[in-house]
Amino acid sequence: MTSTNSYDLSLPVKGRCFVTAGQAASKIKRTLETFNLPPKLVRCAAICAYEAEMNIVTHACRGQVGLRVTEKAIRIVAEDEGPGIQDVDLAMKEGYSTASQEIREMGFGAGMGLPNIKRCADELIIDTYPNKGTRVEIIIHLQTNGG
Ligand SMILES: Nc1ncnc2c1ncn2[C@@H]1O[C@H](COP(=O)(O)OP(=O)(O)O)[C@@H](O)[C@H]1O
Ligand SMILES: [Mg+2]
Repeated sequence: MTSTNSYDLSLPVKGRCFVTAGQAASKIKRTLETFNLPPKLVRCAAICAYEAEMNIVTHACRGQVGLRVTEKAIRIVAEDEGPGIQDVDLAMKEGYSTASQEIREMGFGAGMGLPNIKRCADELIIDTYPNKGTRVEIIIHLQTNGG
């Protein structure tokens, strides 16, 4: 890939559908594995994609997860139509979750998704609009300073 070259992928995500949940992240992981990228960064990106997708499934109505790979970075953008995040600082805290009992019984809602994304990403930008939706942008750098 050259600097003028980039790879893009956009995958739809259904809210509340635990049958298809995780499929977008799997596709993103498989796609990244076809590029010659450091495996550690591919693992980080896969975690971010999975957590961002699961947040659409568990907390929103519908959305999409996009992937862009350039020479410089892996960028994952998860956008949804949904309730929005009421308090982003609180949502970033380990163990904080508004997931229902039903969702917890399915093994989700541990409140570790956003903290894990934060740990794995070089940049995390969250834009959220009450009763409209949320946009989560995750950037993982592929180049260290000095190339
Ligand atoms: N896309 C989203 N739309 C609405 N709320 C969200 C979204 N993503 C995260 N949240 C809010 O942030 C909280 C913390 O998210 P996270 O750390 O992933 O934990 P969990 O998903 O296990 O609840 C969620 O419980 C929810 O209240
Ligand atoms: Mg989550």
